Amino acid sequence: MRAPLVIGNWKMHGTLVEARALAAGIRDGLKRPRGVQVAVCPPFTALAAVSEILAGTPIQLGAQTCHHDAAGAHTGEISPPMLAELGCRWVLVGHSERRKEIGESDELINRKLRAVLANGMTPVLCVGETSDERRQGLTFTTVEGQLRAGLAGLGADEIAKTILAYEPVWAIGTGVNATPAQAAEVQAYLRGLLSELSSKEIAQTVRILYGGSVKAENADALLAEPEVDGALVGGASLNAQGFIGIVRKAARIGTATKE
Ligand code: 13P
Repeated sequence: MRAPLVIGNWKMHGTLVEARALAAGIRDGLKRPRGVQVAVCPPFTALAAVSEILAGTPIQLGAQTCHHDAAGAHTGEISPPMLAELGCRWVLVGHSERRKEIGESDELINRKLRAVLANGMTPVLCVGETSDERRQGLTFTTVEGQLRAGLAGLGADEIAKTILAYEPVWAIGTGVNATPAQAAEVQAYLRGLLSELSSKEIAQTVRILYGGSVKAENADALLAEPEVDGALVGGASLNAQGFIGIVRKAARIGTATKE
C-alpha cells in the first residue's frame, strides 16, 4: 500500500571525488531495486555530479534543505528551482540539525515546505524530540507542534504529497536507535494528526519514515513495524554497502509483508 522509501542524507560529507565514488558504488550495487524507492541527498556541491552518475537509474536525487524564495538577494542560499533543474525530486525540511545549529523556526520550515511543493518536488518534513523532552514526557507535544506548524496552511491535496520523517534527536548519530515500538508509537500518533489535518484516507497514504542510527543490522526490526514506511539514513548511508544493505531489507519487507 505504502511503498517503502529509503533516503540517504549525506549531510556535510563528501568532496566531489568522494561523492562520485559513493554514488557510483550505490548505483552499481543496486541495479534494479524492487519494491522500494531509493533517494540520496548529497551536499549541494555534489548534486550535479551525482545527478549525472545516477541518470537513467531508479535512484533519485534529493537535497538537504533549500531557501523558500525562487531567487533574490540571499547570499549563500539555494532556491527550489535551482534544485529542480538539477533533477532533485526530494528536499528535506526541518532537519533537527538545522533547527538547532541554524535556528530554523517552524514558521520558516513551513515556508520552505510550501516552496518545495510549489516547485513540484516532495518535501520530507523532519520532526523529533530531544532526550530532555522525552524524559519530561513531552515527546508527543513536541512532534505535534512541529507537525502542525510545518504543515500549516496546506490543503489536504498538499499534505498527500508530503513525506514525514520521525527523527528523535537523541537517536541521531548516537548509535542508539529508537526501538521499533518507540518509533511505531510516535508514528501512529503522527498519522492520527495527519488524519485530522487531511482525511483518514489521505493519512493512510502518507509515508512516515524513521531516522536515527538506522543501519543494516537494525533495519529489519524497524521496517517490520507497519507504521514505519522507510528510513532516513545518515551515517550508514555514507558507505555504499551499508546503505544497500538497508535498501535490500526495505525491499524485502516492501514486496513481502506490507503489500
Ligand atoms: P544517523 O543515521 O547518522 O543517526 O542520522 C540520521 C539523520 O539525521 C538522517 O537525517
